[in-house]
Amino acid sequence: MLFVANWKMQLTHNESIKWLEDHFDDLQKLCEAESHNLIMCPSFTVLPWEKKPKAWGAQNCGIKEKGPYTGDVSVLTLKELGCSHVIVGHSERRRYYDETPEQTAHKVGLCKKNGLEPIICIGEMEDERNEGRTLDVLREQLEPILEVLREYDAKTLLLTYEPVWAIGTGKTPSPDELAEILNWLYVFIEDSIKIDTTILYGGSVNEYSAGDLITTSIDGFLLGKVSIDPEALKKIILSC
Ligand code: PGA
Repeated sequence: MLFVANWKMQLTHNESIKWLEDHFDDLQKLCEAESHNLIMCPSFTVLPWEKKPKAWGAQNCGIKEKGPYTGDVSVLTLKELGCSHVIVGHSERRRYYDETPEQTAHKVGLCKKNGLEPIICIGEMEDERNEGRTLDVLREQLEPILEVLREYDAKTLLLTYEPVWAIGTGKTPSPDELAEILNWLYVFIEDSIKIDTTILYGGSVNEYSAGDLITTSIDGFLLGKVSIDPEALKKIILSC
């Protein structure tokens, strides 16, 4: 299984470094022993950490490689800092920073062009789910992404299904509901593009829900809040 630790803005820089120094080696060893992989995604400032993990990811990237884009961090910088992955299109970026599906797709292209693997997030809002529009929304979010992947002749797709109503709320889809959506995603992608696809689930995964959410088609989890709790993380790694 693949685990992505999305620390968001939960820890300060110094807290992050201390956390990594205290817990990272143990977690990495545990993952290796259990044949799992862990990608850590701390804040940008933490990325130059000297004991860089093998799988090191950013939570976002700028919309261009270089230029007058105040506050953005380029994929070129992320590469220099040893990142292998970048979370792209997280619903918090779409929601609070008005990131559009086209911008998300463009960032996917920037990552692919520069040899970084984008961890692409898609998911429906609660009202869209209630209106029975989940699959339409996923299709709309996926189409521009698949177009860019085709353009770059990408060989891999690392997707995370994150229903927005499940993020940070303690709510999760039922295992059957999740299995149905993941299966739909695999079929939709397979019909559209020949690519090696990995699909994670994200949204209120914790040490209690992880075991129940494992379906035959799931490849791992994107972990938010729980990813800063080392003991809970260990339990998740052991339960999967
Ligand atoms: P959560 O966040 O695990 O805190 O719900 C998941 C995410 O948004 O990546």
